[in-house]
Amino acid sequence: MSEPVPAKLIIAIDGPAGAGKSTIASRLARKLGYVNLESGALYRALALKAIQCDASFDDEAALLELVRKSQMKLEPSLGGNRVLLDGRDVTQRIRDEDVSQAASRVSVHPKIREWMVTRLREFGREGGIVMEGRDIATKVFPNADVKIFLDADPVIRQRRRIQQQSSRGASAEAMAAELRERDRRDRTRQDSPLVPAEGSAILDSTALSEEEVLRRLEELVAEKLKTARLRYA
Ligand code: DC
Repeated sequence: MSEPVPAKLIIAIDGPAGAGKSTIASRLARKLGYVNLESGALYRALALKAIQCDASFDDEAALLELVRKSQMKLEPSLGGNRVLLDGRDVTQRIRDEDVSQAASRVSVHPKIREWMVTRLREFGREGGIVMEGRDIATKVFPNADVKIFLDADPVIRQRRRIQQQSSRGASAEAMAAELRERDRRDRTRQDSPLVPAEGSAILDSTALSEEEVLRRLEELVAEKLKTARLRYA
């Protein structure tokens, strides 16, 4: 009998802003030797392009033209996802509040989502990936090996965002309002709203430490790997 080949899973993590997805996804990927991909970075890059070109966030046709003619590159590495827009490094800029709001607005359009989903699927073709976002388990990889919906109490999420962004100048009240608005839009849009996918493990991180969340995810992955290996044995 041949040696079992370790399976390279697709791990999908969805959830609202501030639930801790990025940190956990990046730590989990590092532990597994997988690629971590932040899907939101692509929506953010388009949002920045729209800001730069003074395009309306509500004009789907104009946004589609922009996304087609822009060069967006997502380079996943151990240190995080580097984002290039038309050859310029915009990794930091796309984290600013104006881009966060704009990303949530440009992402409501079905044709934009279709374009993004196609790109995101290309990244996951070979497996060995932890992808995080809003529709990864519902739309991008409905057959993902492990599906996690990571949530947390809105007050805690706001607090985490404020800590992350404290050096960037926005007031706490403005950031809390921004998060509420983004939550509302991401959860109620017509196309691919943020909801737990069928078969997702729902994990509420409100009262959990980062270590505890990570451990729980590792357990889910280990369980899956046991059966996934059998396919190759
Ligand atoms: O994860 P993030 O905060 O970087 O995402 C920014 C916005 O992009 C988010 O408010 C909604 C949108 N988004 C999306 O619609 N689908 C995804 N898979 C990821 C992000």
